[in-house]
Amino acid sequence: MTATLEYTMESEDFIPKVIEIKNLTKLYMMGEVPVAALRGVSLSVNKGEFIAVIGPSGSGKSTLLNMIGALDRPTSGTVLVNGTDISTLTDNQLADLRQSVGFVYQTFNLISRLDAIGNVELPLSIAGVRKKLRRSKAEVMLKIVGLGDRIHHKPSELSGGERQRVAVARALVNNPAFIIMDEPTGNLDTKTGLEIMEFAKKLNREQGITLIIVTHDLEIGSQARRTIRLRDGQIESDEVNY
Ligand SMILES: Nc1ncnc2c1ncn2[C@@H]1O[C@H](COP(=O)(O)OP(=O)(O)O)[C@@H](O)[C@H]1O
Ligand SMILES: [Mg+2]
Repeated sequence: MTATLEYTMESEDFIPKVIEIKNLTKLYMMGEVPVAALRGVSLSVNKGEFIAVIGPSGSGKSTLLNMIGALDRPTSGTVLVNGTDISTLTDNQLADLRQSVGFVYQTFNLISRLDAIGNVELPLSIAGVRKKLRRSKAEVMLKIVGLGDRIHHKPSELSGGERQRVAVARALVNNPAFIIMDEPTGNLDTKTGLEIMEFAKKLNREQGITLIIVTHDLEIGSQARRTIRLRDGQIESDEVNY
């Protein structure tokens, strides 16, 4: 009995933790008034997980994601990414870390003067990939998201769903270790939103990419294997769905 238990614990330890967050707090100052966006959040994420973060507007979902993606610093607590405390990283190391995370936002955040392929090439330019390789990688990625015939369209010449697919292609093109999506379907109609979700799920299933999606769409939240519910900057529940 004891042996079995030990074995179980050992094998759980062996699953690589992509993210480990301990006692995270974030206070924003609004003039003189402190606003507690996160109030003691702890959680760990294993490689290959598919997690939905849900909760009402203002509950701290985006703040939590920004900490995980090293876009912002916590007030207290630690964030370990692949076992490294990110507060110990230099600016260059932080930039490298951000490059290993694919971000997708509700508002797409595409560069309007660049065409689809130009947008998808951006993370590769930042990573110093040379032009020819960058073009071909971006083109492959746009084909994968079903936009092979739209590569020279500017964002204004694409539909909302197509723009979001460009954003997904951009998030994926540099082989991120994990993908963070902050309400990726918030500005899309239901059908397109579900298509984006299907695509994200496929990537998670077939390529084992760790996926964290913030949504307040319960239908989308229920598709994730694990659901973390935030309320007032704290984890209210953390459940495995299937
Ligand atoms: N830059 C900021 N300055 C001040 N307050 C902020 C800032 N960003 C977020 N907040 C506040 O922190 C709380 C959590 O915000 P956020 O993480 O964006 O919530 P959610 O994504 O769940 O809607 C909210 O009360 C919000 O007003
Ligand atoms: Mg938000």
